[in-house]
Amino acid sequence: MVIDVLLHCCRTLAIGDAGKMTYVRPLSSSLRFGGAPAPFPPFDVIFGTTQAMLDVRRRIELVSGSDVPVLLQGESGTGKDLCAQLVHAFSARHRNSFIKVSCPAIPHSLLETEIFGYEKGAFTGANAGKRGRVEQADGGTLVLDEVGSLDVAAQAKLLQLLQDGTFTRVGGHDPISISTRIISIANNDLRDQVAAGTFRLDLLYRINAVTINLVPLRRRRADIPLLVDHFSKVHAGSFRVSPKPISKEVVQIMQAYEWPGNIRQLDNLIRSYSLIGDEDLILSEVTPRSMRSDQVTAEIDLSKPFSLKQITKNATRDLEKQIILKVLHANGWNRQKTAKWLDISYRSLLYKLNEVGIHEHLDEDQESDSVLPSPDGFRSVESLDINTQANSTQLLRRP
Ligand SMILES: Nc1ncnc2c1ncn2[C@@H]1O[C@H](COP(=O)(O)OP(=O)(O)OP(=O)(O)O)[C@@H](O)[C@H]1O
Ligand SMILES: [Mg+2]
Repeated sequence: MVIDVLLHCCRTLAIGDAGKMTYVRPLSSSLRFGGAPAPFPPFDVIFGTTQAMLDVRRRIELVSGSDVPVLLQGESGTGKDLCAQLVHAFSARHRNSFIKVSCPAIPHSLLETEIFGYEKGAFTGANAGKRGRVEQADGGTLVLDEVGSLDVAAQAKLLQLLQDGTFTRVGGHDPISISTRIISIANNDLRDQVAAGTFRLDLLYRINAVTINLVPLRRRRADIPLLVDHFSKVHAGSFRVSPKPISKEVVQIMQAYEWPGNIRQLDNLIRSYSLIGDEDLILSEVTPRSMRSDQVTAEIDLSKPFSLKQITKNATRDLEKQIILKVLHANGWNRQKTAKWLDISYRSLLYKLNEVGIHEHLDEDQESDSVLPSPDGFRSVESLDINTQANSTQLLRRP
């Protein structure tokens, strides 16, 4: 509730009080970062077409004309860093410094001095004073990555900075006044940390005048083809090769995948594919780990009782999915041929595909091909790399 009120005030500020302040710039591709043209992907790639990302774009536009503190939240690899850079590049501060502090990367004992600097004599060995990151960001933007890992002392100083724009160096007494926009980044929900007593509630209210939530890739599946195309071109360019095509079916399977590492994972996968050019590489990643190993492993949670029957059923279903995907791929996504190859009825294959959510992704016109090619038309079982135990060998038996 309080957050909503703050957000409302902030919007009013950005949009304009009684129409006086109307500094809401639509994003344009002529952004500059530290004085130079910013090397961002095109905006239609960054924001795609999903409403959640269009809201992100709108919020970046809204905050760009003001200095309000921004909190960027989202899972790993969703683009929080990228958006922090966009907020800076789009603001009037874009020619000045963009300083990022990765809070967990700095040992707790050094965090305060690193961020706020220290005065001569502040501690043994401090023979001269040193500017901290906050001072380096004067006139620009200070990004606090994983802000939740700030300790109590650093949180208190940050609160002061957000309240009146001043801070004191460690060992100092005189407040130093600076002008910096603070962008905080969090991978987790900071309210949980407030509840656990490790993050100050008053600081949370200060840092999130505007919160921008980056959505996980699995909630913007429609944008995956666009991103795949973008990364293919980028990596082909950097390797000086021509972009390797990815079949429509494989892209559709990628759209069905959960992407725990989000856009970074997709980016890395397409980078590898751009070099290697084998769609099996993609398929082996977008099918879950439990299904990838040559051995069936029993990954079980021993903290509570479980049903052996259910676990075995899930494992069998996962293994079947892996096998079906590989055989489909090897047979050019033709379901008739796949069913023959797997020695199951066509109807049974459709049922299984439906069960594991693959069916809807396949082309209807492939069904018309009912002619079984000569055995040489198939890839060998070995090349499919499915050498699991007896069950799967049974499934792979030649029709
Ligand atoms: N919307 C996007 N469009 C294109 N590329 C993106 C997008 N979001 C992220 N990327 C790319 O994905 C990679 C990861 O992005 P970024 O570092 O911003 O994620 P992050 O949320 O900060 O991750 P982490 O929490 O692990 O630090 C980068 O290479 C970035 O350029
Ligand atoms: Mg990051």
